[in-house]
Amino acid sequence: MAHSAPASADIDLEPLRAILNEHFNPENYQDSLELIVQACQEAQHIYGYVPKAATELIAEHLGVTTNRIYGLLTFYADFLTAPPGKHTMLLCHGAACYVGGSQKIVNYLDQQYDVDSGHTTRDGTLTVQYVNGCLGVCDLAPVAQLDHGPYYGHLTVESFEELLESLRNDDGSSEDSDETE
Ligand code: FES
Repeated sequence: MAHSAPASADIDLEPLRAILNEHFNPENYQDSLELIVQACQEAQHIYGYVPKAATELIAEHLGVTTNRIYGLLTFYADFLTAPPGKHTMLLCHGAACYVGGSQKIVNYLDQQYDVDSGHTTRDGTLTVQYVNGCLGVCDLAPVAQLDHGPYYGHLTVESFEELLESLRNDDGSSEDSDETE
């Protein structure tokens, strides 16, 4: 799924404010961690990422510091703090994928595109998030999931580059990749 995310200056905070007022009462929770994470998930669902203005609103509403929220946003791989690219990819970096060579793709992204987890290629084609857990399809390791849809398994640097090239050409598929739902 490709989000068309609004720029930070165009953020309409009213939808988030309404959800916070209706469902997020800090007094109902002993530990605010769960509450903060859920509020950030709501923001990411609305905007496609967690904009600075949303972070400030959540902090104010829940009575926590923005630093605490940024700490959580950094810790959890699912969160984006900048508008995502046209496509988003979860690149598994769990044990089976690591053994299978996911580090080579991580290195490639870093060296070739200056892209780290949560970052987007300069041309806006792809946002990559590294998943240190497991995507649950270890038999495809190393594997990536594109736009919360198909898995691309048994990735190599070459097949990854082919996939990226196909995304740039906007056909959304790669004939040579080991794609599966
Ligand atoms: S470790 Fe990558 S899918 Fe399980």
